[in-house]
This record gives sequence, C-alpha cells and structure tokens, in this order.
Amino acid sequence: MARFTLPRDLYHGKGSLEALKTFEGKRAIICVGGGSMKRFGFLDRAIGYLKEAGMEVEVFEGIEPDPSVETVMRGAAVMEKFQPDWIVAMGGGSPIDAAKAMWIKYEYPDCTFEDMCKVFGLPKLRTKAHFCAISSTSGTATEVTAFSIITNYQDRIKYPIADFEITPDVAIVDPDLAETMPQKLVAHTGMDAITHAIEAYVSTANCNYTDPLAIHAIEMIMNDLVPSYNGDMACRDRMHDAQCLAGMAFSNALLGIVHSMAHKTGAAFEDYGAHIIHGAANAMYLPKVIAFNAKNETAKKRYGVIVDYMGIADKSASDDDKVAALIAYLRKMNDDLNIPHCIKNYGADSYPTENGFVPEEVFLERLPEIAANAILDACTGSNPRIPSQEEMEKLLKCCYYDTEVDF
Ligand SMILES: [Fe+2]
Repeated sequence: MARFTLPRDLYHGKGSLEALKTFEGKRAIICVGGGSMKRFGFLDRAIGYLKEAGMEVEVFEGIEPDPSVETVMRGAAVMEKFQPDWIVAMGGGSPIDAAKAMWIKYEYPDCTFEDMCKVFGLPKLRTKAHFCAISSTSGTATEVTAFSIITNYQDRIKYPIADFEITPDVAIVDPDLAETMPQKLVAHTGMDAITHAIEAYVSTANCNYTDPLAIHAIEMIMNDLVPSYNGDMACRDRMHDAQCLAGMAFSNALLGIVHSMAHKTGAAFEDYGAHIIHGAANAMYLPKVIAFNAKNETAKKRYGVIVDYMGIADKSASDDDKVAALIAYLRKMNDDLNIPHCIKNYGADSYPTENGFVPEEVFLERLPEIAANAILDACTGSNPRIPSQEEMEKLLKCCYYDTEVDF
C-alpha cells in the first residue's frame, strides 16, 4: 500500500491570494520572512483579506533564511499566546518550513525538536489550527509538501521533518508573488525544482500518480527556467506552477541523495563565512549523482525516459548516451544560470570563482563526517542506489573537484 497526499485545496493563477477572503476562523497568524512580502505589499493585502473574512490577525515577522530551531520555538510561543485557528505562512521556503515546525510545537507543546525529526512519526495535527502556505519563490514547493527543513546551528546540520501531517491544508500558488524574485533566487530555486522532479522520477518510491507530475514539471522547467532567469515574466509565472507540480511529485515519491548531500553540506562550512545555498548545491551535485545512479539499470532506463520527453537525444540512442545527454544539458543550464559546477569553484556569493570559499583541506578534513551524515539523511532511503561510506566520500569529492564519476 502507498499513500498519495496533497493539500485539500490549491488556488493558483494571478490574483489567487484573494482566496484568503473565503477562509473561516477566528484568529489567523501570518508567518513571514525578512521583509520582501511587506515591501511589495503582499503582507498588507493578506492581512486585509483575512480581516475581511472576519478574523483577528497577528503577524510573526523576521523568519531568517535557513530557519533555526530557536526561531521555531519562538514562533510556537507566540502561537501559544495568540491561539490561532489558522496559520498562514507566506514567503520563500524558509518562513513556510519554519511555520510548519511551529505548528507542530503549537499543537504539541511537549514535542521536542528531536521528536519532530522522527520521519513519518508525528502525532495528528489540526486539533488547534489549519495551515495555509503561500509561496513567493519557485522551487521548494513547500506549499504542497510533507517536508520542512530546519537547521540546528549547534551541529551545523539541516534536519528534514517529514510527515504527511504537515502537508498544508491550503496552498496558494499566485505567480504575482514570484515575479518579485531577484535573479539569483530564480536560478537557485529553479534548479532545486528540476532536481525535485528528476529525483522523484527515479526514486524507488515513484508511482503512476507521481510520474506524470514529475515529467510535466521537467518539460516545463526545461522550457521556462532560463528565460525566466533572463526576465521573461510569462515564463516566470509558468515556473511557479512547474515547481509546484514537481513538489506534488516529490512529496509523495520522495527524493534521493542529491538532497542528502545538499542537506549535509549546506551549513557544514558556515564557520568559513557562507552557506552552500540549497538550490546551488543541488545544481552542482545533480549531474554527478545521475552518473552514479545510472549504474543501476532501472534508474538508467528512467533517465532515458526523461531524455525522450525532453527531446534532447535521438530516441534510438542507447540509454548510456541519453544519460550523457542529460548530464550535458543540466551542466549547460548551470552555465546559463551562472551557477558553478563544483564546490571548489563556489564563491561566498554563490557565483563561479577560481577559489571558492570552502578551502580544500577543510573539505577533506570534514569529508568522512559529512559523508556519514549524508548517508543517514532521510532522502537516502529512496535513492535508486544506496552508496557505501567509501562511495559517498568519492561522490562528494567529485562534487568538490568536478571530476568524473566512474564508480
Ligand atoms: Fe530541494
């Protein structure tokens, strides 16, 4: 038996933010990030719509990128005081992910962060509040997924919380919000989205319900991401839908080791002055992981199907040639989006550079621990090939030096 879970309602298209007017409840708390939603007027509009719906509204502001356990606990305390029956999370992946974790703590005050991280082990939510997610970036798709990523800065590790209980009740996918994204964010979130779709399609948990979502997302992202990056707003609008489709796929088909590696390298070099941004990490690691996974016959065939849909190689070509075409295509996308190919060339500003911010000796010293953590990541279990410690270390080295994966 398998389960396929999505939000009960999904409002999409320009102006769909207005759906908030139709909500029923007494008190709504809006959780937002650093200020762009306020600056562009979307926060005020959301407050206005919820008030029009007859609700008392409170705002929890200032959720940082890569939200911390401390922020989650702070937000939950505010909820405990205000007693909302609607949690409305608005912005990029970070405020929505943080609000999901706050929701758990609000419903179960005794639940610790360690309890939350037990994969598919959450108690029943919705005894106090329902959850609406409104995404302003086109990548994480957290508005439709069963996941939340919270960073524990004590051990410099990102922890995924995974349970269908935190799949939002309502998602609002309004492209007006995504039009405000800065160019760099378009690149990173877009590559995150294509990684979601590709990992979901080759995941061992793929199924007939997730495959069409993943494939259609890949075709759309292929056509729309680079023009969106270059300022085409019609493509930007379509990317908002495409990333959401990819999210519906991966929330149910799960992901693979591109994400395991991105989660465990993201904050690992924080003390050297920069994060490896999630989408950029995925963009760099995806071609390497495809080469690694393609040693598994089933995965190789599935990559071949993706390539057939993308139309980037002759249909009669061998699966090996199709895999090579896919890797070359994704690397070209990285070039078009100004994303480096490897950690060695990843600058503190995320752009390609001769000498990246992660020194070689620091990377090598931390490699065994990062590899061990990546294997233990919740995303590893559904990868088509489970790497050994030695293979994971070799794979991460390929991601550091941009060397060929031949094992
Ligand atoms: Fe992701």
